Amino acid sequence: MDVKEKTEEVLIHAYGKRPLTLVKGKGVILTDDTGKEYLDGAAGIAVCALGYGNKKYSDALTAQIEDAGLLQVSNLFYNEWGYKAGEKIVKATGLDKVFFTNSGAEAVEGALKLARKYYYNKTGKASGKIIAMEHSFHGRTFGALSVTGKAAYREPFEPLVGGVDFATFNDLESVKALVTEETCAVIMETVQGEGGIYPAEPGFLQGVRKLCDEKGILLILDEIQCGMGRTGKMMAYEHYGVKPDIVTMAKALGCGVPVGAFAAKAKVADALMPGDHGTTYGGNPFVCKAVSTVFDCFEELDLVNHAADMGAYLKEALTKKLAGKDEVKDIRGIGLMIGIEFSCPVSPIIEKAREKGLIIISAGSNIIRLVPPLVITKEDIDKLTDILSSCI
Ligand SMILES: Cc1ncc(COP(=O)(O)O)c(C=O)c1O
Repeated sequence: MDVKEKTEEVLIHAYGKRPLTLVKGKGVILTDDTGKEYLDGAAGIAVCALGYGNKKYSDALTAQIEDAGLLQVSNLFYNEWGYKAGEKIVKATGLDKVFFTNSGAEAVEGALKLARKYYYNKTGKASGKIIAMEHSFHGRTFGALSVTGKAAYREPFEPLVGGVDFATFNDLESVKALVTEETCAVIMETVQGEGGIYPAEPGFLQGVRKLCDEKGILLILDEIQCGMGRTGKMMAYEHYGVKPDIVTMAKALGCGVPVGAFAAKAKVADALMPGDHGTTYGGNPFVCKAVSTVFDCFEELDLVNHAADMGAYLKEALTKKLAGKDEVKDIRGIGLMIGIEFSCPVSPIIEKAREKGLIIISAGSNIIRLVPPLVITKEDIDKLTDILSSCI
């Protein structure tokens, strides 16, 4: 029995899987079980920023397993990699304190709980309301789903966490209209990912920041997909000259090791006391060594600036090569987070690309999402855009 049949037999059918079994990765190339190679334009859904087989990263993880023999100690004890990874997140985000989680959704859960607890401490009331955005995506757990702006994802699982209202992304007046005395937080992605690669407009994000400051509301930015250099800045909010009160991170934070985090300003973070929140695995020495090494690799490779350069090159190449193709409606995004909107469904294009040795994914039925490893080169981009163009 092959991998596909066996998988369908024992794993819950929660994913529409592509007919492809991947067995190896090197740089930006993935290899399937027949030995066929693919250029990777998806990075495991915006995760593998370093590509595959980065030696410094692999050596660090191997050493933690083989030399230290220590993957887990629980949060009842200290471990040196916790603060080392935490310090690097503090530096990257410009915020003060960090909590490690095991996934993106769990980082969102924690951020929402922190906002509610902060409001509770401030007002003595357990009634904090949250404003989220239409077309947003924050994850599949109950709290994260409650602030996800796609009704089809939410409805089968209702009743969800209460006290959430949805505003229109990039419409400041729609946010203002929802603010009440009980609003404790606004949550949004700086660049909407799953919703179709829509960057926040500067006036919108800056306006929401100002509104939050005036009303004493916390701004939570979800940078799980758009953070960690993907947009050509370490954090996407740097493009806007704003800082959130809480930020959520995951995906490229571990570059494959499952880890997330939320970071907050000190006065907000201090609302969580021992007993308020926790996780068994979160921030264990293995994942924190991975996070710390990811930041070291980013620095060594000057990866954020590289992503900015490659992002500009990719957008220019797409604009040139897709010019005159009637089905292409828009090419948008920042850095190496690009959406190509079509007037038709994109799954046949994605399938054709796979046959020609290119792995790409969608964000909605008519948008191709390009989120390659940040280590991608100009030559790789030439190849990627040639294949893609030939598939339309
Ligand atoms: C912006 C954003 N937030 C949250 C999540 C959820 O992260 P995870 O799948 O690690 O739970 C995702 C995943 O795609 C995401 O893109």
